[in-house]
Amino acid sequence: MSKKIVCRCEDVTEEDILKAIDEGYTDFEELRKKLRIGMGTCQGRTCIMLALRILARKTGKSIEEIEKPSFRPPVVPITLGSLAGEEDED
Ligand code: FES
Repeated sequence: MSKKIVCRCEDVTEEDILKAIDEGYTDFEELRKKLRIGMGTCQGRTCIMLALRILARKTGKSIEEIEKPSFRPPVVPITLGSLAGEEDED
């Protein structure tokens, strides 16, 4: 069986998510913290929605029923120079 990668940054597969749900992690925030979904360098740009869909499908809920994670800035990657107050040269 081929591995279906859900979170490339943290190397989380669909199987990992399904196993965690079977263990009782049916709250998305708990699931996210257990598997580190969305905590990689891309900050969950691609994986959070995929993981939400898997959780919804497995628990029989709609995505709207599942409490979404809170996003903390910076959601968009910024340079260290920007943090240091350097002017952009663009
Ligand atoms: S793919 Fe999940 S944090 Fe980047």
